[in-house]
Amino acid sequence: MQNSQENASLTINLSPGIAESKSGEFWTLGEVAVRRIGFGAKRLAGGGSDAGADGAGGADVQDRAIALLRRVLELGVNHIDTAAFYPSHGLAGETRFESLGWANDVIRRALAPYPEEFVLATKVGPTDHGLARPDELRDLVESDLRALGVDSLDLVYLRQMGLDSIAEHFGVLAELQAKGMIRHLGVSNVRVAQLHEAREIAPVVAVQNRYSVGFGRVNDEILQLCGELGIAFIPFFTLTAESREAGGVPDSAPVQEIADRHGATVAQVRLAWTLSRGEHVLAIPGTSSARHLEENLRAGELTLSAEELAVLDAVVD
Ligand SMILES: NC(=O)c1ccc[n+]([C@@H]2O[C@H](COP(=O)([O-])OP(=O)(O)OC[C@H]3O[C@@H](n4cnc5c(N)ncnc54)[C@H](OP(=O)(O)O)[C@@H]3O)[C@@H](O)[C@H]2O)c1
Repeated sequence: MQNSQENASLTINLSPGIAESKSGEFWTLGEVAVRRIGFGAKRLAGGGSDAGADGAGGADVQDRAIALLRRVLELGVNHIDTAAFYPSHGLAGETRFESLGWANDVIRRALAPYPEEFVLATKVGPTDHGLARPDELRDLVESDLRALGVDSLDLVYLRQMGLDSIAEHFGVLAELQAKGMIRHLGVSNVRVAQLHEAREIAPVVAVQNRYSVGFGRVNDEILQLCGELGIAFIPFFTLTAESREAGGVPDSAPVQEIADRHGATVAQVRLAWTLSRGEHVLAIPGTSSARHLEENLRAGELTLSAEELAVLDAVVD
């Protein structure tokens, strides 16, 4: 993590974390060994009603978010996934999306100057008028640099929406990387052909696509390809699955039965299944709750049998 000059004088040390490190607990993302269970910032403001009450996330919501982010680091998490348009959530069971757009500011206030061995990943693409044009991407990256208070962004995903070719958009990010504004690049919401296309332009260190128990196996091929290429596969909606923007964790009976057998929670079972898909698969569960955060981090200690994993492969939420 490269802090901005004005933030560079202080440091925060990572604690050893919630559990001692075990083999397979880390993945080198860019140049940093990150814990395979990170943190997603999209839910920082909570599920919806309290977050949206004043349309921008009230001061108490922001204070809670700052405390939670500091707890994330205290527990040894060193990979946070964010975006300028977070927090965001679905409204009243609709798939409609509302962005409160303050996560990056809250992250900087809570955590800057950032620790050395830390990856703060952000994504550009979605805007209030749909996918940004290639010539708009530089402004979005500069805005993230300012909001996060850094001289260079650790990892920036092109979060594409509906493109056939991502070459023009990804090419702009590669140019910004060459200028030193970005250290590493990723792609999100992509197909195999688009990953190949990006890799022809610049190295890709991470793919962020939807993937979870109950989602079907549509992203199995790209997940496996990432493993073969040494690229991190970092799924979203790992917990909330089919509930998507609305949040929450589905309580499908087979998942609950496996959780009961292990004295675990359904969230932990879903995360353990995710991590079982390959050493290159990282999790970024999103939560507004310190209790859920700690619970999610303990999922790394849960080992599921081959039979249980096969049951989870077939779950339809
Ligand atoms: N690239 C993309 O297009 C894209 C899209 C969506 C998300 N993302 C990224 O992926 C991250 C993960 O996705 P997500 O946050 O949307 O969904 P998620 O992590 O699958 O699920 C979040 C939901 O699960 C709940 N939850 C979390 N831990 C729980 C636990 N232990 N027990 C019960 N409920 C629990 C949260 O509510 P509580 O607050 O009550 O815990 C929230 O409603 C995001 O934060 C974001 O960084 C990327």
